[in-house]
Parts: sequence; C-alpha cells; structure tokens
Amino acid sequence: MSAQKIQIFDTTLRDGEQVPGCKLNKEEKLVIARQLEELGVDVIEAGFPVSSPGDFDAVRAIARQTKQATVCGLSRAVEEDIRVAAEALKEARYPRLHTGIGTSESHVKYKLRLTQEQVLERAVQAVKLAKSFVEDVEFYAEDAGRTDNEFLARICSAAVKAGATVLNIPDTTGYCLPQEYGAKIKYLYEHVEGIENVCLSTHCHNDLGLATANSIAGAINGARQIECTINGVGERAGNTALEEVVMIMRQHPYLDLYTSVNSRLLTETSTLVSHMMRMPVQPNKAIVGANAFSHSSGIHQDGVIKNRSTYEIIDPKEVGVDSSSIVLTARSGRAALAYRLQKLGYTLEKEMLDIAYTSFLAVADVKKEVLDHDLHQLVEEKKLVMAS
Ligand code: KIV
Ligand code: ZN
Repeated sequence: MSAQKIQIFDTTLRDGEQVPGCKLNKEEKLVIARQLEELGVDVIEAGFPVSSPGDFDAVRAIARQTKQATVCGLSRAVEEDIRVAAEALKEARYPRLHTGIGTSESHVKYKLRLTQEQVLERAVQAVKLAKSFVEDVEFYAEDAGRTDNEFLARICSAAVKAGATVLNIPDTTGYCLPQEYGAKIKYLYEHVEGIENVCLSTHCHNDLGLATANSIAGAINGARQIECTINGVGERAGNTALEEVVMIMRQHPYLDLYTSVNSRLLTETSTLVSHMMRMPVQPNKAIVGANAFSHSSGIHQDGVIKNRSTYEIIDPKEVGVDSSSIVLTARSGRAALAYRLQKLGYTLEKEMLDIAYTSFLAVADVKKEVLDHDLHQLVEEKKLVMAS
C-alpha cells in the first residue's frame, strides 16, 4: 500500500481560542492564519461565526486572505448558526462548513433532551442546509468518544447520505484509550454506508493526556484527517498538539502516513501562537518546549557530544531549532565543561581542566545554570592556560 496523506485540520483559532484569557483580536487571528498557511496545514478552522460579531468578522477576513488552505467555520445543528457561518465563508476559495450535534447518551438525554431519532433528524437537516451553501460539509458527532458505535455508524451514514464530505469523530471529553478510539474508527470505516467517498477525522481532547496517542491510533485505523492545535492549546487540558502528530508520522515512516506540514516552521509557529495567546509553552513540552533539545545531566551530555543520536531522536534543525544545547549545571561532567570551554576558545590540558572543573562545581552549586560569562570569569580568575 502506498503512503497515505493525513490532512492536518488546525483548530487553534477556534477550539484553541476557547481557552480563558487566550482571546485573539482579528489582526492577531489574521497573522496566525497566514503562518498556518505557510506551515502547510490543509484546513484552518477560523472560528465560530455565530458566536459574536467579532468572530464573524475574523472568519470573513481569514476567508478572504487565505489562498491555498480550506477555511472552515463551526456551527451547531441550528439554522441560524449555519446561515451565519455560510455568510462568513462566502469569499473563501475553499470553504468548509462544520456542523453537528451531541450523540452520546449523556448529550442526547441531558444536554439536548431529545431522542436518538430526533438527534438523527436534526443532524440530517443541518447537513442538508449546510450543503445548500457549500460543497464541503463536515459533520461532527459531539462526544463520539462516549457514543455507542452502532448509533454512531447510523448517524454518520445518514450524514453522508445528506451530503457530508467529512465525518468528525470527536473524543470531546478526552475519555477514550488509544485502542478503544482506534477500534471506533475501524468500526466506522467498516460500517458507515458510503464511507468510501468521505474522509474520517479525529478530534481528540487531552483530559487524560491521550489526545496525541488517540489521534495516531485513529489514523492507523483509517482516519485521513487529524484535528489539532499549535502547542495543544484548547478547552480544559487542550487538544491534540499539531507538532506532536506531525513529528510522530515523520519519525515513524513505517506507519506509511505523511502530512504536508513544513516541520522546519514548527518552532517559530509555536512561539508566535504562545506570544499572541499570552500562553507560555511548558519547558518540557514535546517538540517545541525550551528543553526539548537541551541536555543537562553529565551522562547524557557526554553521549550527545560524542554523537547526537545517543539521546536525541529528532534532529533539532528538522523543527527549526539551530542546534541542541548543552546546559551546564551541577549535574554536568568534565566532557560538557571542556566542550563548552572549547566553543568559547579555551582548550585546557587535563590538569587545567581538573582545576576548572572543581571551580565550576563550586559555582554550579550556587547557581542553577552556569553561563558563558561565568566561564570566562572562571578561566581568568584561575589564570588557566589558554592553548587556543
Ligand atoms: O470537542 C468537540 O466535540 C468539538 C466539536 C464542536 C467539533 O470541538
Ligand atoms: Zn473540541
């Protein structure tokens, strides 16, 4: 089987922006949308147009600006939502309307207070109405993660018959285990009528820290689109992190899955989104955290100095980071100290290095990190011989 392309559907500007305190204005959204297009995502979910005049305006402006990516607007299975979303998307070159309804027992019974048959009917009407405005209609079955597979297949089949081109299977509450979510996608792949003409999409939340694992399990089992956000931002514990799924597919070629994302732009995109949303990236965040390519323990530093592959599975350049960094702390060894001194122009004989190392440890025990200017000072104070 030839390698399968996985469409990257970025929802930073919609699901990601739902985070309290991370609200973006129209100009900020336009800058991020431009960066996402440059990054190579396939779909930009630009917002939820009916939610506010500001969001409507932002979706309309992104629709106008975007040239290559599909621009998507969210709606509930509500007539006004769909009409407003269609209006906001009018000038998009490739518009997609995203509409749907809760399908789990809990949503049907407590949130919607409807029967399953009524929910199914609402879904069909919503997809039909959306289809009267745009060709590309994505149907979401909210809380699909906790929805009985048989009903899910039934409502998805009805949505396909009504004109849906993409079926979004959200694990809205981040409840599923990877094998369970993967099995759900496989079940739908085997049971939804007309599935051969539509695309199954994952949309996983991170409440149990499984969003990335679930999305990959979905792709392995037949999903051809992954919905995700930069830095994994999103409601509660967030969404699937775009940078993680993209790099997993790159680092595991035997999966035979690929995306069109330019991974070299991942770090700058992460920094841009973090800055504009005023939401710092945790230092130990996979791929884009400040510590993702920095080594501080002596054993690891020694290995990385000899050969980067000993402790790194990704070349930092692949994600737009110039090089790995060796951080000097009290846990560092002589090899790391010698390496850093050499970078600063000091090549020390063994005896001098021993003296330098003793002084270095004294400084390192007081400071959290020993910086270049500390090393210059140390070499000068101890009058260590400079051979280069
Ligand atoms: O998590 C979810 O179910 C959603 C839908 C609205 C697509 O964000
Ligand atoms: Zn969501």
